[in-house]
Amino acid sequence: MGSRIVATGRALPRTLVSNKDLERYMDTSDEWISTRTGIRQRYTMRQGESLADITAEASKIALNRAGMKAADLDAIVVGTVSSEYGFPSFACQVQTRLGIDTIPAFDVAAACSGFVYALSVADSMMRAGDFKRVLTIGTDALSTMVDWNDRRTAVLFGDGAGAAVMVHEPGPRGVLTSVLRSAGQHWNLLAVRSTGIRSTIDSEVRRDPADSIQMKGPELFKIAVKSIADVTKQAAEKAGIDIAAVDLVVPHQANMRILSAVAERLGISQEKVFTNIDRYGNTSAASVPIALDEALEQDRIHDNDLVMLNACGGGLTWGANLLRW
Ligand code: UT7
Repeated sequence: MGSRIVATGRALPRTLVSNKDLERYMDTSDEWISTRTGIRQRYTMRQGESLADITAEASKIALNRAGMKAADLDAIVVGTVSSEYGFPSFACQVQTRLGIDTIPAFDVAAACSGFVYALSVADSMMRAGDFKRVLTIGTDALSTMVDWNDRRTAVLFGDGAGAAVMVHEPGPRGVLTSVLRSAGQHWNLLAVRSTGIRSTIDSEVRRDPADSIQMKGPELFKIAVKSIADVTKQAAEKAGIDIAAVDLVVPHQANMRILSAVAERLGISQEKVFTNIDRYGNTSAASVPIALDEALEQDRIHDNDLVMLNACGGGLTWGANLLRW
């Protein structure tokens, strides 16, 4: 076995925005948002807030729970598409906030699949033998990239960060399999042309609509359901495990209707699917580690449980990790 998650942490921006709040900004309604997506509120960044600070906070919580210091880490792998800079990487900004030097720190850009990808990369690094303790992060601030006049996207995204401390560990527990997929031909179903300029809900200067998130929601919906179901089955098959044996699915939270449709396709009960989209919205790469952290807090995961993580996002990218907890 290669690696195991020993602790997690999450952190959010301070500002809570309800669907009712959004009714004041655009032609939308709490009723439409909650019935079409399952979202009731989300946390969004404000001017002057730093996603790197929030990410460092989530990381420190995870490290503290693991009983480790940042100096114990051998690497930092960050799933994100929200770096404020073209370069340096977001991971390097987190590294310096944790007060550590020289260990490799780098980003994995797979949009909403960022954490699932980063976890697979970190696991492979540990299986290869050179790394013993890796901090794996999913963090994003897509609310800062929307056109606040575009109700089709502006209501969907929230911001936040989730972190997992992974350790190299022989034995039956840990990451059993990962399956990653990409399909660049579908790049324009969900894309943003430029990063860097933050357009928070309270900023006076707005992003140009052409530089904001562009999404073909209904087309993406159909592909997401099929691809997430397929890759989840493949991750279970690769491990020689029947999907019915999975104790909890911790999915990317893009739309409650996607989660229900995937569960139906997989033939698993909705109770086995962890959801918190109502309180966070779609936090992109942060959604899986935030959900994992909450699932652990709520005692939904026990030792030796089979836990499936899955996601689909811009790229298109999609993937799944199966873990024996
Ligand atoms: O995280 C990465 C992966 N993300 C996804 O997989 C997202 C997949 N897509 C979706 O979740 C859904 O397609 C959306 C939530 C984005 C949209 O839901 P939908 O049921 O597919 O709505 P639609 O885009 O087909 O729009 C239906 C109607 C339209 O009105 P008309 O043209 O029928 O009159 C929209 O203008 O709903 C309208 N609409 C809204 N109305 C009130 C769209 N957004 C809103 C809104 N408030 N916020």
